[in-house]
Amino acid sequence: MDFKAVAAQMMQAGIKDSDEGEIYGNFEIPKYSQMGDLAFPCFKLAKAFKKSPRIIAEELVENLQESPYFERIEAEGGYVNFTIDKALLAEETLGEILAGGDRYGTSDIGKNQKVIVEFSSTNIAKPFHIGHIRSTMIGNSLYRIHQFLGYDTVGINHLGDYGTQFGKLIVAFKLWGSKAVVEQDPIPELLKLYVRFHEEAETRPEMEDEARMWFLKLEQKDPEAFQLWQWIKEESLKEFNRVYTMLDVHFDSYAGESFYSDMMPGVLDRLRESGVLKKDQGAEIVDLSDYGMPPALVTKKDGSTLYITRDITAAIYRKEHYDFVKNLYVVGAQQQLHFKQWMKIIELMGYDWAKDCVHVEFGTVALEEGSLSTRRGNIVFLEDVLNKAVEKTREIIEAKNPDLENKDQVARDVGIGAVVFQELSNSRIKDYTFSWEKTLSFEGETGPYVQYTHARACSVLRKAGELSDGPVDYGLLKDERSAEVIRLLSQFPQRVAMAAAKYEPSLISRFVVDLAQEFNRFYHDNPILSEDEALTRARVGLVRAVRQTLSNGLYLVGIKAPEKM
Ligand code: ARG
Repeated sequence: MDFKAVAAQMMQAGIKDSDEGEIYGNFEIPKYSQMGDLAFPCFKLAKAFKKSPRIIAEELVENLQESPYFERIEAEGGYVNFTIDKALLAEETLGEILAGGDRYGTSDIGKNQKVIVEFSSTNIAKPFHIGHIRSTMIGNSLYRIHQFLGYDTVGINHLGDYGTQFGKLIVAFKLWGSKAVVEQDPIPELLKLYVRFHEEAETRPEMEDEARMWFLKLEQKDPEAFQLWQWIKEESLKEFNRVYTMLDVHFDSYAGESFYSDMMPGVLDRLRESGVLKKDQGAEIVDLSDYGMPPALVTKKDGSTLYITRDITAAIYRKEHYDFVKNLYVVGAQQQLHFKQWMKIIELMGYDWAKDCVHVEFGTVALEEGSLSTRRGNIVFLEDVLNKAVEKTREIIEAKNPDLENKDQVARDVGIGAVVFQELSNSRIKDYTFSWEKTLSFEGETGPYVQYTHARACSVLRKAGELSDGPVDYGLLKDERSAEVIRLLSQFPQRVAMAAAKYEPSLISRFVVDLAQEFNRFYHDNPILSEDEALTRARVGLVRAVRQTLSNGLYLVGIKAPEKM
């Protein structure tokens, strides 16, 4: 039942020459629930009606017919507010959730069109550090959200596996490295080699030339260089995949920067043909001064390509290979200029799909002083943070609920979920500081709080298990507390759509926190299992719907919903 469509139809009758679809699209959710469930703003009509929005709203309301669907329709401050009949909303919403199950909130607006979500994009031979968690988890959530909405979603890990640094690494490895040592602890050992290269190259600059030579060899697929690079990549991926498994994150493609190396000459030709490249002291640049940006360097004097050349190539490949309707890049805001530059270059080349490429940027994560021992140097490895979260959660369980079954699994789900939730609970562009105390708290707006509420709902449902089957009258759920919960539940599908439109997973994390809080208020005021069998049945239905919606919401932000904790 689409109440918004009914309201739109009613409104159309009062607005001359209006389009129902447009009216439908203009509806908002009122700021406060006392105002109702749907709000139609009249501000845009002021010009055509030659009246103030306030008067338009009042006149529209006067002329509206009574409707069995709405218990109140009122004009307020330029809005027409609709309050859906509570019993009807309860029946519709709970019916839909319980029938939909883990599909509640899905839709087919994506029509199976391709959306690319590029995320995580870690660098080979470099640590998978705490800073990468944001791209990884925002991207994972956007991936799931788009899938939920019926898009054919492609998750790409654009690995940093190309560039002159690999020449350096090969030189260092040949001088001081050992396979056995690296395989013991790959990333830290490779990092040591890399650091040592830079130290020694200060006094032996000829090493830089040697590194360039080895990178050239790598580009030409010289067997020795290629095999070493391949091995470095495999060892690095082994470590990265450990973290991806912990986070339950998957990719459809690991086509990283090197994947595009053979395609770059062709793309450079296209760039030259389209006339956007300019020679500049032997290098090639794109002049972007008309767009208020510094020039973009696309090839160096020695003809070698750069990070930006690979991004231009990758975008063209993705369009041709996947024919996306959206190509999302979940990358930190520090790279804003880089993305603006290459997207402009794509546009200048005449590709109208440049507008479908989006830099989904986010702010930085700082660590609270002393929040993690730096036993691996100054870099905070994400894996260490996750392990520590699991360990701390395990201690909390041991103290609070030592008889819990599956303690290890629950500690993992809750510990990791807590860190992930923290990441996604602020709007993505905000910088924030990671704090253990906030992350692992079971109160306040945290992952464990939402998970705990979910587990509490599960426990109620276990107790209600013996309840005999029979018809349920959700119309009995008319009290204020139940109505608030149902109102929120009914908004979930819209929330999911909005989170996709704004590329903002925090809209879902916010939603599950609100729902958990509202449910806990309801639970506090209403005994769920009572003498009144009809009421018990209705309330149990509500608990089921809440459990399901919390679980669906947690899934969309990439968090597990344990049944006991
Ligand atoms: N590997 C890069 C880094 O760690 C991020 C890659 C972002 N994606 C892209 N298409 N440029 O900074």
